Amino acid sequence: DDPPIPLSTTADRLSFAFPTARTRWPKILNQMIEEISSTLSAKKSFSAKEIQAGKEIQAQIISLRDQMAGNAPLTPLQYDGGMDIENYNLEIGTFLPKPTWLHVPWLFAECYLYRRVRTYFAFSSPIYWTTFDPFLTEKRKALVGSKKGTIELVKHLLQVLDTNLISFEGEKQEALFVEMIQISLWGNATDLSLLAGGGVEELDSRQGKAAREKSRKNVLCDDTAAVYQMLKDLQHGDITLSSREIHIVLDNAGFELLADLALAAYLLKADIVHKIVLHGKRIPWFVSDVNHHDYTELVDGLAKGSIYPPNDISREDQQQLARFGKHIQDLESRKMLEFRAEMFWTAQHPFGRLPIADPSLYASLASAELVIFKGDLNYRKLTYDGQWRNTVSFGEAIGPLGKRPEDNDGMRILALRTSKADVAVGLPEGVAETLPRDWTRSGEYAMISFCDTKSK
Ligand code: F6P
Ligand code: MG
Repeated sequence: DDPPIPLSTTADRLSFAFPTARTRWPKILNQMIEEISSTLSAKKSFSAKEIQAGKEIQAQIISLRDQMAGNAPLTPLQYDGGMDIENYNLEIGTFLPKPTWLHVPWLFAECYLYRRVRTYFAFSSPIYWTTFDPFLTEKRKALVGSKKGTIELVKHLLQVLDTNLISFEGEKQEALFVEMIQISLWGNATDLSLLAGGGVEELDSRQGKAAREKSRKNVLCDDTAAVYQMLKDLQHGDITLSSREIHIVLDNAGFELLADLALAAYLLKADIVHKIVLHGKRIPWFVSDVNHHDYTELVDGLAKGSIYPPNDISREDQQQLARFGKHIQDLESRKMLEFRAEMFWTAQHPFGRLPIADPSLYASLASAELVIFKGDLNYRKLTYDGQWRNTVSFGEAIGPLGKRPEDNDGMRILALRTSKADVAVGLPEGVAETLPRDWTRSGEYAMISFCDTKSK
């Protein structure tokens, strides 16, 4: 059972859900409508059937936007072959009494929104549209806009990989670990759903080393030292004993994914685990989340040197990016790095339901040494998007995942989250009161929260 905690809802004027449902979602729907229009006018080779199908999808998105503005009920999703549909519909029928767009728990409605739009594409018959990613252009643009940060990060990481500083002993090594965590954390500061409609010009200012150093004081709770200690203990154990893995539940494509690949490459170099598993999304999700095609486009693009036009980047920088891309490809071919996209990550479920909703995924995460959850949405799902007091512990707010199972191993959970919603837990007494209004929404504050429920 979910913990009995009130949720953020779109009816609550004090919640970020309120303007989200009234302003941000319509903007995101408009962007999709425009994306289809520009695709229709750019691709001259479309057949009449394909053009018709594109227009039909557009009409459905327009109607959805109107329903939202008119506070219409959330109707059951049409079955498009996905096994997750039934659960979405069950939730509407059971837990949520007559949900309407402007009077519904935020987390559920937002997942439902992206899943519903997906059915429009899935039902379309021309294959062009069934696989269409309405956010692809934007994700690509953001990656191009992150050029400066990308080059800086890759060069830095290659230097790190070349040193012998990667172990979990000594002060310098610990400082490096802290830095790699900060890189992955702040890589999340630039997601596209928050910038809805804004340009990519401000990305640079949020991505470099200088920005990270300035932001460090904005980490409101920081369990990095406990994670470091855990990995240090692991290093002292015998790596040959079992197959050791770390899993990263990814968030956004582009620069954030690059930062997560950097963290993965660093952790593998430390030789404490055999493999890193990356979990992305199966369907276009919350605008900027990573699908498999974003992942391969980034890795192959780096390796081939095709991300930035040759006259836009120096030869030396190009070579560095290629070296990193090839390093990642090499890790993949040695089965040390793997990308997966399970359906659970685009279900509506808060993560506390994982052991029951997807026992085999739960078992694979519980057998890992550490599971890192990236970003805001993953944090909301971990904490049920609940209206917890800010001083409640992270372990309590994640419900069953925060309790040691009686007969089995639990998970070691590390959340790296920049805050872009309402929920925030694990803060020391008195801190929240000193922060500016809207601090939970701006993406400027962050949480590094760790909870270990393993028996050993
Ligand atoms: O609040 C902004 C928002 O769009 C939320 O709806 C969502 O939780 C989040 O941003 C997406 O951010 P992230 O990519 O960090 O999960
Ligand atoms: Mg995201």
